[in-house]
Amino acid sequence: MKFDEGTATDHAIAKAYVAFLVKRRCDDSHAARAEFCVAEDVAPKLLYSNPHIAGIASLFAAQTNVERVAEMTVREYLRYHYYYIHQAYKYGIPEMQQTWRGHHIIKSPADCWAYQELIFATKPDIVLELGVMFGGASVFFADILELVGHGEVLGIDISLANLRHKPKKGGRITYLEGDSGSQKILDEVDRRCRGKNVLVIADSDHEKEHVLKEIRLYSRFVKPGGYYVVEDTLNDLMGFHPVPNEGPLAAARAFLAENDGFEIDRRLPEKYLMSLSPEGFLRRKGGKA
Ligand SMILES: C[S@@+](CC[C@H](N)C(=O)[O-])C[C@H]1O[C@@H](n2cnc3c(N)ncnc32)[C@H](O)[C@@H]1O
Repeated sequence: MKFDEGTATDHAIAKAYVAFLVKRRCDDSHAARAEFCVAEDVAPKLLYSNPHIAGIASLFAAQTNVERVAEMTVREYLRYHYYYIHQAYKYGIPEMQQTWRGHHIIKSPADCWAYQELIFATKPDIVLELGVMFGGASVFFADILELVGHGEVLGIDISLANLRHKPKKGGRITYLEGDSGSQKILDEVDRRCRGKNVLVIADSDHEKEHVLKEIRLYSRFVKPGGYYVVEDTLNDLMGFHPVPNEGPLAAARAFLAENDGFEIDRRLPEKYLMSLSPEGFLRRKGGKA
């Protein structure tokens, strides 16, 4: 690979890191970086701020794809997907990010398919999206609702500064800016969602306390037979960085322990094995199965 920027120290560290990954036959990951820093006595800051790290990540993504795809375990695939596609925007490789009609979306293709099935089956009046970031997922949900011929997206984000599209006036998407844990947002959601068939997709702050607070606040809008999806539960299991590893899954389990009105639906997303939200699709008991 070409090293055409950075200092001589950056070049040396980047080359040593590539050699380390090749020797260990492992991908770039938080664990590999930590191990490398200890083995080579490199300050982590020098590796993380290294201008070549994005190039290294994409190089190893390509090698993983071409050389090892047939031998990959589901765990390896999920790790590959998480670091090189799901989090590509963080690694400075936006061309790897999943897109829907050109809009960046931070999900997995298998989960998007599960959402399409879920929306078609439950025909929600409102998809309440907690955490929208670039807004690509909102466009995806709105397009599926358009195909169904019914429903709107209500997207909440603490900051809409990263939004990369403008919702069309009179279209199916509305955004509200604010903390999903605040009374102000809850009141506004209540005003718009009360009595409606709401599908909640929680993908904002992934700290356990926040995720749990959201479920307690917003699960009331889900009707029997409807769903509350806690996203990124896989991170608790896989130890993926940087999402908290006592986060969404721990929150979902804590909620189920205190509320027996919901149950986990494993059939829908987990049949694809590739879900980033195992045990995260919570179905409100009652209604049609
Ligand atoms: C992972 S991104 C959402 C990605 C999006 N759902 C998608 O699939 O493309 C998380 C978003 O949650 C937002 N967020 C973080 N804390 C929040 C909070 N307390 N209330 C509302 N949004 C929050 C962040 O600003 C960020 O845009």
